[in-house]
Amino acid sequence: MKKRVLVTYNMLRPGYSELEEKYDVTFPPEGRESFTYGEVLSMIGEYDALQSMFNFKVDAPLMEAGRKLKIISNYAVGFDNIDVEAATRLKIQVTNTPHQVTEPTADQALGLLLAVSRRISELDRRLRIPGNVHVGLLENLGHSLYGSTLGIIGMGRIGQALARRCRACGMKIVYNNRNRLPSETETLYEARYMPLDELLSVSDVVSVNAPLTPETYHIISERELSLMKPTAILVNTARGPLVDENALIAALQKGTIGGAGLDVFENGDYPTEELLHFDNVVLNPHLGTQTVETRNEMAKQVSDNIINFFEGGKIYKVNNIG
Ligand code: GLV
Repeated sequence: MKKRVLVTYNMLRPGYSELEEKYDVTFPPEGRESFTYGEVLSMIGEYDALQSMFNFKVDAPLMEAGRKLKIISNYAVGFDNIDVEAATRLKIQVTNTPHQVTEPTADQALGLLLAVSRRISELDRRLRIPGNVHVGLLENLGHSLYGSTLGIIGMGRIGQALARRCRACGMKIVYNNRNRLPSETETLYEARYMPLDELLSVSDVVSVNAPLTPETYHIISERELSLMKPTAILVNTARGPLVDENALIAALQKGTIGGAGLDVFENGDYPTEELLHFDNVVLNPHLGTQTVETRNEMAKQVSDNIINFFEGGKIYKVNNIG
């Protein structure tokens, strides 16, 4: 009998073609975007594999209901939606898609950084209202990237891809990471390691690119924001709860930081209402991996993780089940 795979979201199909040829794959019915948690809970007992999305909570009760469940193939590099400890206890393999997300997420971080520093979104918005923009040589001034300092918190794949882009813009790179990088990697990106507080005080732009864990929760809060330059820009393309959104709003209200580019928010898909009122804030609905190409590549990787798990081959493991 064919293995059964449950996919929680109705994604673009091309990346799933091999999986669909080999296995019995269930997507949400046509016209529905996704299955609810309750639906997955009631169905999971019949499935060998779950293909979850980064915003779908996979907790212990759901995994315990998966009597035959052997693998959870998460559609993301981040896996903070999954109780990995419970998965390991239940001997369920968890996998992710570390490579496909790197370049598009770094593009998005660079886009936000440019949009805030050169006021691209703000002035586009204002120009559409007749009489709302005065054009003059000393009007609408932004800040140059060239020669400014980018502080990257979390110098993994995405942080490094952002460093590469920003070096091309003439920025100096400093970084903070759980572990300092080998000197060859530092040389490659011309990146200098710094303790977090020092990074915050010297950077013109601070980008958070770390995974969400108990250690990184609110890694940017009131104290950290107070260390930043009053002109500094904060960019978050990682996970919303890395930044204390209320503390950020307070800093923006007091004018103690220069602006923010946010692709993710602390409380779900939408920003706290107050953020909508700042011209020096650019808000995007988690666009980091939202390209046609990336969606297809990620679908192929989640499929390969499942196929290779059952048939042998390379998988991107999040946990070790022995
Ligand atoms: C997207 O947010 C991811 O974690 O891949």
